[in-house]
Amino acid sequence: MKRPARISPAPPAFPEPSSVDAVFRGVVVKGARIGRQLGYPTANMAVPEHPPVPSGVYAVWFTDASGRRFAGVASLGVRPTVEADGKMLLETHLFDFCGDLYGQVCEVTFCHLIRPELKFGSLAELRAQIERDAVMAKSVLSGTASMMPFDLSL
Ligand SMILES: Cc1cc2nc3c(=O)[nH]c(=O)nc-3n(C[C@H](O)[C@H](O)[C@H](O)COP(=O)(O)O)c2cc1C
Repeated sequence: MKRPARISPAPPAFPEPSSVDAVFRGVVVKGARIGRQLGYPTANMAVPEHPPVPSGVYAVWFTDASGRRFAGVASLGVRPTVEADGKMLLETHLFDFCGDLYGQVCEVTFCHLIRPELKFGSLAELRAQIERDAVMAKSVLSGTASMMPFDLSL
């Protein structure tokens, strides 16, 4: 008699970026500057104990103090890959931006949750994932989110 086919367990459920709508305003502060080494410099902001959204990686719109708006990808979390006991931080990588935002009061509008924060085995793995996050963020912000499930094969 033929055995019934085995059904493998479903992959972790991060099927598509989910829509969020929250705004955070804060001062841009200096970070440890590892982001530059990764090729993804970030505008960093301290966040309150109860941030406006849960920790995770988001597609965002970022507005600087003079009202210029940039698309970006942001990470809200404690950075388990690089810090053992990190403080909650909001780090935004802006697309098509080059310059200095330190000390400016800026605004981050959270649009889509892309994935939860994860601990990676190396900076190279983190970098590769941020690259995928950036592609996804550009896609959702331009209104063309892929219907493909998020690839969590790290
Ligand atoms: C889009 C994006 C996603 C990130 N995802 C994670 C993550 O899943 N896990 C993690 O430990 N750090 C994550 N980070 C934070 C990086 O560890 C951090 O940006 C890097 O260490 C550089 O920080 P620094 O420039 O403030 O030193 C992410 C950062 C960005 C911009």
